[in-house]
Amino acid sequence: SEPLRVALAGLGTVGAGVVKLLDANRDLIARRAGRTIEVAAVSARDRARDRGVDLARFAWTDDVADLAGRDDVDVVVELIGGSDGPALTLARRAIAAGKGFVTANKAMIAHHGAELAEAAEAAGVALKFEAAVAGGVPVIKGLREGAAANAIAQVDGILNGTCNYILSEMEAKGSDFADVLAEAQRLGFAEADPSFDIDGVDAAHKLAILATVAFGTRPDFDGVEVRGIRDVVAGDIAEAAALGYRVRLIGVAAADAHGLYQRVTPCLVREGHPLARVTGATNAVVAEGDFVGRLLFEGRGAGEGPTASAVVADLIDIARGIGGTAFGMPVASLSAAARADPGAR
Ligand code: HSE
Repeated sequence: SEPLRVALAGLGTVGAGVVKLLDANRDLIARRAGRTIEVAAVSARDRARDRGVDLARFAWTDDVADLAGRDDVDVVVELIGGSDGPALTLARRAIAAGKGFVTANKAMIAHHGAELAEAAEAAGVALKFEAAVAGGVPVIKGLREGAAANAIAQVDGILNGTCNYILSEMEAKGSDFADVLAEAQRLGFAEADPSFDIDGVDAAHKLAILATVAFGTRPDFDGVEVRGIRDVVAGDIAEAAALGYRVRLIGVAAADAHGLYQRVTPCLVREGHPLARVTGATNAVVAEGDFVGRLLFEGRGAGEGPTASAVVADLIDIARGIGGTAFGMPVASLSAAARADPGAR
């Protein structure tokens, strides 16, 4: 059968990871997808930079929006980032041109996910974003499929690898905040602007997407109450440990009769709770369904290999004809979220 032809917009850590993964596991991916997945075209700011992978074999374009109009492309993979700007322009054009769209862009989905899902449904194309939440951890698929028939009461997650790395390194080694942050940047976990990580914005983007999957509400990023880890000092961590707690940046989303409650904040997590032992650039999500009970998802939430794995898994779904949007329900079924008063919980 015909290959699935892919355009890659953005060749940073994740984009280079996608190329490496498609090369390394080419045969098993083709077997699972039922056909080969081929990169047809790429676009990146810096053409000359060595990314440790042969890119000369692909068609290059400097104007990323051109990727949407190419006849030799079935699916556009967007790895540029940013909630608006070139990423959003590309998403709208690609979907309007009848291309499937795969993205790791949590900011864009948190802000414009409902609009893009509407457009994808109207165009009859797939819109997938497993990599946008918790990197390699299939938490969107897991919730959508594992709890598809359940009412979910609450979702709690460690959703930012950089913060969890910083907090757990400070805890284990008594290291300084700034040194650990620099190391997270070197390892490729941190956002281009690391204030998005440490101020909790990145976790809030992911939480808003998870809440949509869990509760069927339209993404409401502005409804997330956000506090990051900038003010956490080594002494807080040591004192919490002495009392039997770990400090973790936790995203919580819950829905009840008052509406939807969304919050990202540093929390004391009791030792023994599944989120307390999660260290490093790991993400974890705990969800409670009314029939399935507690579900726990855990794994690498950032970095090249894990995030590329989620992107390519979405491509395999599309290659197999598994369409629709990652929200897992018709956009018309999403309800407007009434914001519950966090103080009332
Ligand atoms: N900066 C993010 C993190 C990358 O540290 O978790 C994955 O979204």
